[in-house]
Amino acid sequence: MSRRPRLTVFGTGYLGTAHAACLASLGFEVLGVDVDAARARGLQAGILPFYEPGLEPLLRAGLRAGRLAFTTSYPAAAEFGDVHFICVGTPQRPGSGGADLTQFESCFAGLAPLLHRPCLVVGKSTVPPGTAAAYGQRLPGTAPAGTGAELAWNPEFLREGHAVADTLRPDRVVAGVWSDHAAATLREVYAEPLAAGVPFLVTDPATAELVKVAANAFLATKISFINAMAEVCEVTGADVLSLADALGRDPRIGGAGLRPGLGFGGGCLPKDIRALAARAAELGAGEALSFLHEIDAINQRRRTRLVDLAREAAGGRLDGRRVGVLGVAFKPGSDDIRDSPALEVAARIQALGARVAVFDPAAMDRASQVHPDLDYRGSVLGAARDADALLLLTEWPEFSAADPVVLAKAVARRAIVDARHALDAAAWRDSGWDYRAPGRPGDPAGLPGALGDSAGAPGALAGHPAGVPRHAAGPREAEEPLPGRCDLTRRAPKRFAVKRLDIYGSSSMAACDRRGLPSAWNWRAPPGRSAAPSTRPWPRRAARCRYG
Ligand code: UDX
Repeated sequence: MSRRPRLTVFGTGYLGTAHAACLASLGFEVLGVDVDAARARGLQAGILPFYEPGLEPLLRAGLRAGRLAFTTSYPAAAEFGDVHFICVGTPQRPGSGGADLTQFESCFAGLAPLLHRPCLVVGKSTVPPGTAAAYGQRLPGTAPAGTGAELAWNPEFLREGHAVADTLRPDRVVAGVWSDHAAATLREVYAEPLAAGVPFLVTDPATAELVKVAANAFLATKISFINAMAEVCEVTGADVLSLADALGRDPRIGGAGLRPGLGFGGGCLPKDIRALAARAAELGAGEALSFLHEIDAINQRRRTRLVDLAREAAGGRLDGRRVGVLGVAFKPGSDDIRDSPALEVAARIQALGARVAVFDPAAMDRASQVHPDLDYRGSVLGAARDADALLLLTEWPEFSAADPVVLAKAVARRAIVDARHALDAAAWRDSGWDYRAPGRPGDPAGLPGALGDSAGAPGALAGHPAGVPRHAAGPREAEEPLPGRCDLTRRAPKRFAVKRLDIYGSSSMAACDRRGLPSAWNWRAPPGRSAAPSTRPWPRRAARCRYG
């Protein structure tokens, strides 16, 4: 092949469209192929069927330059391409954890008999172990080109919302090949990123396909690990954000993927860990990956915990309450609602009798097709209007930038649940909001009837304030007095009273023992101050007191 290889991309979802447009931007002639004629026509007209920042301009540039086109014709694609990338979906099989390879099989079965001249067929779809070997063996017997048609595996690692950058400058290119020729062809395709220093890792195809699912399993494990720690934080009074920060600074651990909150969703991580566990069990290695079931279970528990927090924030019940929801996409920068934790929480709250008003900058169309029963509003303010509780479920930047003072005027009750730790807790509390976030102490999460709510609220630990250890031994001694102000708001059951602290302009709830001393466990020290609280008792009757 003296000229540059011509490329085809089968499957024009997030992965395939990004791959096709990016490779066209690198100067290749690319033909995108999809069985959905409307989708192929739309792409040919420069219309992206989903939201992905930066991709539409690249698509249009490729079309304008005449290097990119879309078709439904397999014969045309087989005739055109020297390298055929298969990027079709591999969703979860209904009723099982395994992967549904129907699309992959039908693409392969449609393409292989049309391959009359030497070419490389490259699997990019995420598949269970063993898939590459099976198709690698079938290809020479099915393609008229015989052994001239070769299979390779080249997994993708792109994140939605970052598809362009992840395709043009991936962390690594993994080439799973059976021959030097296949490796050389992939080197040619990725010449530009490789020249920019992207590592090129040559493996056998079995390893390459496993790299992808193992990477996703590791990422899911990391996310569930920190979310499991958030559960522990809620019963010990530790702060999961500080914990994640301290853990992430260890280079052996690393901070990426250690963001606690509502857990993972989307079209990849949830179904990929299930498919990997199911395949490992089929291969007799089920025990090795049995922990992935626990990773999945931890992830599902986050959704239940958020429903509980929403109920508490709404005053102890959801039935008949108005709940505002910010975000239904599975993550910011995407309109994807596949297995979206945010959308599931919104739907569950609605099913429990609440009236749920929703706003999302990109995913409302898709969400309304699946859940037409939710009330879709045009802005953050619209979703917040008259709400008894406001929930931030997807961390879009515009939600973090929302003004708590403005929103306070729109809602019926100033109660916010920040499922993604995206807000400035102090700023919201200072504006009079009852701020709750999973896994954080010093907030009223789980406090029965906190902040003047007369209805009471069932928490994850019934009758026990969140952020206070069950067997708290009392406050620690400290040399310096506690600065700031406090006011007694409510007496919690049993051993603890609940007080509101106002320290250097940032207020938070604190549980105190019988003597009125704040518990050391949920005390956040102001900058430059000792983390230990004072031993001096708080005046019991004073509604507000200077202290220290
Ligand atoms: C993922 C992989 O990152 C990517 O390499 C693979 O090719 C496809 O699957 P994606 O699904 O686009 O990509 O999203 P990612 O950014 O990894 O986030 C997945 C989910 O985990 C989201 O719901 C996100 O909100 C959540 N997440 C991510 C966390 O809860 N905490 C984190 O620290 C990171």
